[in-house]
Amino acid sequence: MFKKIFFSMLMLAVVSCGNNPKANPNINGSFEGIGNGRNGEVKVSVVVVKGLITAITVLESQETDEYALPVFEKISATIVANNNINIDVVSGATLSSQGILTAVENALKDSGANFKGKKLNVSDTVMSTDVTSSASISTDTVTSASIVPKELITTYQVKGFVDSAKKKVLFVHGDPRHYSVQTDMLNTSMKFFEDNGFEVELRDLYQMKWSPILSVEEFYYQKDGKGTPPSEIVKEQKLVTQADYIVFSYPNWHDTPNAIVKGYMERVFASGFGYTSTPKGPKGLLDGRAIFTIMNAGFLGGGRGDVGDGLINKEAWDSYMNAFRVLDNDSAKWWGMSNLGRFVNDRTPKNNSETYAEELQELRVSLTNHLDTVFLK
Ligand SMILES: Cc1cc2nc3c(=O)[nH]c(=O)nc-3n(C[C@H](O)[C@H](O)[C@H](O)COP(=O)(O)O)c2cc1C
Repeated sequence: MFKKIFFSMLMLAVVSCGNNPKANPNINGSFEGIGNGRNGEVKVSVVVVKGLITAITVLESQETDEYALPVFEKISATIVANNNINIDVVSGATLSSQGILTAVENALKDSGANFKGKKLNVSDTVMSTDVTSSASISTDTVTSASIVPKELITTYQVKGFVDSAKKKVLFVHGDPRHYSVQTDMLNTSMKFFEDNGFEVELRDLYQMKWSPILSVEEFYYQKDGKGTPPSEIVKEQKLVTQADYIVFSYPNWHDTPNAIVKGYMERVFASGFGYTSTPKGPKGLLDGRAIFTIMNAGFLGGGRGDVGDGLINKEAWDSYMNAFRVLDNDSAKWWGMSNLGRFVNDRTPKNNSETYAEELQELRVSLTNHLDTVFLK
């Protein structure tokens, strides 16, 4: 029986070895090829972006998983890291190695580029995250995270808060990449609000070079309201005061707001501004406002939306969403606000999907519908 193995190697390329072939920026595409392994054919798909091999997926194989998968993984990682398909076989697994190597070579025959450099041994190559060390690529070119294809990237310029009676939405966005699905969701949401008569202001924390660090001096201001806050904090507090809704937008990095957004929360929502102490206990000072969170994720059980919107492992999804809800409720309450929940997505289109445009559109529609339900109905 034909056994299928789906596993994907998408990782950061090093491309630093002088003996590796030079990337031809005109070569792009997804190529399929077949090689012969120990037990039969190995079929792969290889994705090339601007002349760099960014992903190798084993589509079909009849090798024994236990032995072959680590071999496929090592070889794929070495190829992607070096952009070089001239890799020595893994000792003890010559035939499986030859299966994937020939499959990749056959796949790339159609690409018209040379990916054969000096022969490399799998164990000789070192993975590195220093993708920026290569002048020819940017961190957004080759990555295991989401990349919205160039032709589908949207940008959105908000009009900001003006002195009107319109409801105001402050976006606090923490994502270093402007081509991510997270930023796509940000743009979709900001447009949704402006289209529906809200005023929108954006704090793009990475672009602002926001410092999440709470210094010792500032700690006492934050904790007890003592001393004068730095001017950048005063500026943010003014925006928070003007806002009716504060929307936090960040990718899921370990299930909490990522450091830069967390640092915004810690520094801006200080004692005397976000909350105060009373003889009866702490009291939030920002009542009448609400928080909402938009988060892209790797995998949280499979779903799109909030509690009840799971699509694959609904139980796992709901347990994550309920956990987020507990924490969001607590933060909101601490500041005297209400929590309107989240839009979480872990159904991100695969970077090499042939139906990427349709899948992205589905995500945008789903997000817009969710915002419609939460904010307009
Ligand atoms: C430091 C780091 C930690 C991560 N932790 C998680 C995690 O705990 N759970 C999860 O589902 N995904 C996690 N991920 C995966 C990201 O959420 C995932 O790549 C997501 O697609 C990011 O959105 P983006 O590609 O639009 O930036 C993590 C990614 C990074 C870089």
